[in-house]
Amino acid sequence: MRRVLILGGTGWLGREIARDAVSRGAEVVCLARGRSGHVPEGARLIQADRTSPGAYDAVQSEWDEVVELAYEPSLVASAVDALAPRARHWTLVSSVSVYRTNDEVGADESAPLVEPHDLSRYADAKVAAERRSAAALGDRLLIARPGLIVGPGDPRAAISAALAP
Ligand SMILES: NC(=O)c1ccc[n+]([C@@H]2O[C@H](COP(=O)([O-])OP(=O)(O)OC[C@H]3O[C@@H](n4cnc5c(N)ncnc54)[C@H](OP(=O)(O)O)[C@@H]3O)[C@@H](O)[C@H]2O)c1
Repeated sequence: MRRVLILGGTGWLGREIARDAVSRGAEVVCLARGRSGHVPEGARLIQADRTSPGAYDAVQSEWDEVVELAYEPSLVASAVDALAPRARHWTLVSSVSVYRTNDEVGADESAPLVEPHDLSRYADAKVAAERRSAAALGDRLLIARPGLIVGPGDPRAAISAALAP
């Protein structure tokens, strides 16, 4: 059975990724504090605060896929330090915000990125997270750079609907 570790899984996107993996027959474990919400039926939540020592102790096994939802560079770094050798493949959910500009027609993945100077800024933190992950994982890493993600259960859609006239 394919073994998938979701670093997150209690927020909206992570929960949907976990739900999809469960539906495809994977064993799915989610590592999170459990503050943002619940994990989908069929997935197992291991509660841990990733800023604490030993946060990854309970997930020290072999994983076919690790999916990282966080982007705080310290969380990303602690995860790759603890788990990179145990992952066959790793997916980092990054963002289209990493690109320096967004007005160049035909730009592709090779377009210049923001330089990460201020890690409290979203784009800078995402670029730092990408670089840290790439250094540890090499060609086992997929970096996904989505634009706006929407869909059923999206909490922002509920807020927009509530604010609509
Ligand atoms: N929505 C969009 O349009 C869009 C577009 C581009 C990229 N993205 C990216 O998509 C991702 C959104 O993911 P999401 O909706 O699943 O979740 P999220 O609300 O961004 O939360 C991230 C996950 O990390 C966990 N987490 C945070 N701090 C933690 C800690 N100290 N220890 C352990 N776990 C911790 C949270 O769980 P707990 O709070 O339960 O611990 C949560 O499951 C982000 O990376 C975002 O940048 C989103």
